[in-house]
Amino acid sequence: MSKPSCQLILALDLPDQQQALNFLDKTGGQLQWVKIGLQLFTKHGPDFVKAVADKGYKIFLDLKLHDIPNTVASSVKSLSQLPIELLTLHTAGGSEMMRAAVQAAQETAPNLKLLGVTVLTSMDEAGLQELSISQSPQERVVHLAKLGVEAGLPGLVCSALELPVLRKELGPSPLLVTPGIRPAGSATDEQKRVTTPKDAAQQGASFIVVGRPILKAQDPQNAVETILTDLHLPATI
Ligand code: C5P
Repeated sequence: MSKPSCQLILALDLPDQQQALNFLDKTGGQLQWVKIGLQLFTKHGPDFVKAVADKGYKIFLDLKLHDIPNTVASSVKSLSQLPIELLTLHTAGGSEMMRAAVQAAQETAPNLKLLGVTVLTSMDEAGLQELSISQSPQERVVHLAKLGVEAGLPGLVCSALELPVLRKELGPSPLLVTPGIRPAGSATDEQKRVTTPKDAAQQGASFIVVGRPILKAQDPQNAVETILTDLHLPATI
């Protein structure tokens, strides 16, 4: 099977290390990428990241760093000791913070790709206004995404809704990593706007992040394989 241009990342959002590691054993051999978020990292720390990497997975560490440039750069240097390939930071931290992070990654972990988070999807127009931000969420996403790319970030996290505008504004180069994905027919949970794996891939996602449709599946291996098949389907016109 040739490597798909859009890859699947499992969001390993489970309460503890043992459940997470046990779960991975049920996903079969085709899953390559795992996202570890704040919940498990704050509970089990770097050892958990190493335990998942020891099972052969590539790791997306979703810590959404946001602090003064020196602190973020130092954190990137510390994290570069870990077997991780993707790491998030907030573009709202500003160009100087992002450039410091990019430089730290280049010096200590040249294969580590930093991903910028723009506007959290939990934030709407009213939430932005509360922060004295008059831009619409989409205007702000595009603004922050451009800032991130100009600062040297190789990629961004964005919703599937934002894929078309970001590909138009930024071209094919940046990695676009997209959550809020639901295979056709599966529960949407509290995600308000969902996109199928195939649609996200066709709209330019480099990676899709999928949690509960796999975590809650009766047969997780089958859920993974169905999504991978969907990612390989040719475009329908
Ligand atoms: O279970 P589900 O597929 O909804 O999980 C999606 C993952 O992507 C979760 O880890 C969630 O925190 C993350 N995420 C998201 N929406 C964003 C950013 C991240 O759902 N805008």
